[in-house]
Amino acid sequence: MISVDLFLTPFGMKDCVPVTVSRRIAKRSVVLSHSGGALTKAARGLRYRAREASVVERRRNFQLMHAFDCQPRTRIIFGADGLASLGELAVQAGARKTLLVSDRGVIAAGHTQRGVDALRAADIEVTLFDDFGENPTTNDVQKGVEVARGCDPELLVGLGGGSSMDCAKGINFVYTNGGTMRDYWGVGKATQPMLPMIAVPTTSGTGSETQSFALISDAETKVKMACGDKKAACTVALLDPVLTLTQPVQVTALTGIDALAHALETYVTTSRTPMSQMFSREAWRLLSSHLGPVLDDPQSLEARGGMQLGACFAGLAIENSMLGATHALANPLTAEFGLIHGQAVGVMLPHVIRYNSAQCGDWYQELLQGGQGGELADYQGADQLAEWVSRLLPKAGLKKCLADCGVQREKLTRLAEAAEQQWTAGFNPRPVSAADLYALYCEAF
Ligand SMILES: [Fe+2]
Repeated sequence: MISVDLFLTPFGMKDCVPVTVSRRIAKRSVVLSHSGGALTKAARGLRYRAREASVVERRRNFQLMHAFDCQPRTRIIFGADGLASLGELAVQAGARKTLLVSDRGVIAAGHTQRGVDALRAADIEVTLFDDFGENPTTNDVQKGVEVARGCDPELLVGLGGGSSMDCAKGINFVYTNGGTMRDYWGVGKATQPMLPMIAVPTTSGTGSETQSFALISDAETKVKMACGDKKAACTVALLDPVLTLTQPVQVTALTGIDALAHALETYVTTSRTPMSQMFSREAWRLLSSHLGPVLDDPQSLEARGGMQLGACFAGLAIENSMLGATHALANPLTAEFGLIHGQAVGVMLPHVIRYNSAQCGDWYQELLQGGQGGELADYQGADQLAEWVSRLLPKAGLKKCLADCGVQREKLTRLAEAAEQQWTAGFNPRPVSAADLYALYCEAF
């Protein structure tokens, strides 16, 4: 069937074709006209205007995609039982002495000792630092730096969750460049070379292994500082999904929701690039299709591997795109009320998706269409995406509203002011003022 649209324009008025009409014409492969008469001129004019409109539109769309300079800095190794190669990788990095940063939960699970054994089997001298908390602080970093000064390492290894990797990166900043952690709040503040670092994640969440940022909390103000420098990027990310099998279900849920939020937020930021979109899409596909199965069957190595790769790709997306309002809203909740990061992110994410949908609902739809199928296959639009995230929270054992998290309503104004100051707020696709952020807290209450 051939569909025919008739466009009538007055003589001499060919330049006045509305752009919307021009775009419709641009999609036609042939423009017909009455031959030999004035209508031919009008038809040519229409075709010209159509092409012009098409070029303008293409240029406008291109401007929406940021130019980028992406230089991968981290070698990524993925595979079951890869921890055994840690010693060999340390030798390849030219190290004879290493500082191993590992949290007590991972030590108790036995992973740290296996890492120590692999290093010592390769004749690497190992000093262990484990005196830090879940959200490493400036004080924790300082303690680690003192230990580093005592053992003079040539390599840092962060073996554990985001806190171990971030703490190791923080130690690297101060040990190699001097000063205190606060001196590196922001981007590109380190002037001296830094030590090579191997990250061995045991959770699937932060994606710290593929980022050049260390998240360190100021011990006095409780503000979470993002300290970034390309020199702080890990030399190697050693992804061994077997290490994630021992995660408690609650940790799996908290870190999994965080990783999912990373995929969703990075896909829509104002600084997204074609490169970051590629990582966000693949991260979303892996995380959305494996989070449910890994909660149902925590011993599934396939589901664990999917989550670990998804979190890693989401980390690469953050490195190339940044995050948005969900993280801006989550950080003050952690600082003020001690909410675990994944819980704070999970409770805010559905509300931010709905808020952003006015600006970029079609981008969320793109992610839905690019998913793995399953229960998400029939979902349409940002509202349903937000609903899916909301329903995931109780399944993951997380609370759905701020009141249940112990947040006090009278603190929301102050929290909103703190959220507005967060760096990631500036990258949200729809601008957010303190009033907007307050409204989002109220919706989540
Ligand atoms: Fe996060």
